[in-house]
Amino acid sequence: MPLMGKEEINAVTKVLKTGILTGRLGSGPMAKQFEDNFAKFAGAKHAIAVNSGTAALHMSLWAKNIKAGDEVILPSFTFIATAEAVALVGAKPVFIDIKPNTYNIDPEEIEQAITNKTRAIMPVDLYGLPAEMDKIREIADKRNLLVVEDAAQAHGASYRGKPPGHFADVACWSLYASKNMTTGEGGMITTDDDEYAEKLRLLRSHGEKEEYKAALLGHNYRMPEIEAAIGIEQLKKLSAFVEKRRRNAEVLTEKLSDVKQLVLPIEPRGCKSSWYLYTVRIRRGAVKDRDTIIQDLRKRGVGAAVYYHTPIHLMPYYRQHESCVLPETEKAAEQVFSLPVHPGLKAAEVNYVAKAVRLTMGQQSF
Ligand SMILES: Cc1ncc(COP(=O)(O)O)c(C=O)c1O
Repeated sequence: MPLMGKEEINAVTKVLKTGILTGRLGSGPMAKQFEDNFAKFAGAKHAIAVNSGTAALHMSLWAKNIKAGDEVILPSFTFIATAEAVALVGAKPVFIDIKPNTYNIDPEEIEQAITNKTRAIMPVDLYGLPAEMDKIREIADKRNLLVVEDAAQAHGASYRGKPPGHFADVACWSLYASKNMTTGEGGMITTDDDEYAEKLRLLRSHGEKEEYKAALLGHNYRMPEIEAAIGIEQLKKLSAFVEKRRRNAEVLTEKLSDVKQLVLPIEPRGCKSSWYLYTVRIRRGAVKDRDTIIQDLRKRGVGAAVYYHTPIHLMPYYRQHESCVLPETEKAAEQVFSLPVHPGLKAAEVNYVAKAVRLTMGQQSF
């Protein structure tokens, strides 16, 4: 449930009273303000507000003319939108495996997947934990590849002290209702590259610099003013939201650390998670299978869920093009489940989640 306060309600009312609901050529005044604030937050020169994280990903490849005949390397263990962006520009998604302890792509697998058709790498900061961005940047630089970081889940994360996007050419953020901050639907693109930003702004609004004169093929990916007004207020609250998520995650880790059947999430050195999801995995040989555990937790009133049941390379649409085997990805998809760490949870509710997990796993309560 998104946390909305009187600040967001007042901001929306104000926009409605102005009657300016959108910016004809891209950014209206609210969207412009939101972009400026978001660029500062992300430590980037440019921020381009769009109407979804999916749009952000699609545009980032499209603006670089990635197309049929090209290959893009990405994880299969992610939300479908990452792969969709590749398919939408007509390029081939090349799925690689993850590291079992972080669920993020393995840089060594990237090196092995590169061919003379590879144009880009799309690391995903899954569950809010940054991918190994410095290693990925190094690989990309050797081969002159574009790095599009899918930071849809990573608002408030950092890698070697830097926010998502720092080691990438571009970062794509989602502002969907479940995210660490939200505009309902929405997205943002951040980059330091002036030319790239200019092209992205054109694509966002029908390829027009002047009204009714398309300079290039574009789309309508604009962010409405009401959403931008909500985003400005949510961004102010983001660090408090993330802090609360972190505290909730720490409580779960403390209270579940002796449950031998579970592997708890980690933050490797130099990484700070945004704690978008607190994802555990069951060890092989655990007494109950994962889906029974989830059913039991739900009966106890805990909203446990699986992200993601089906890796993308096994989905019917993607499977028809080419099949591959990704052992760590497939194993993780069978073993993971996520527990609530939402900032709206009260301390007693987080304790209850931990208690319910312990009981479900056949452990003593605390
Ligand atoms: C990893 C990842 N990539 C992309 C997206 C797509 O974002 P949106 O739902 O805003 O289109 C999401 C969010 O839903 C996501 O979690």
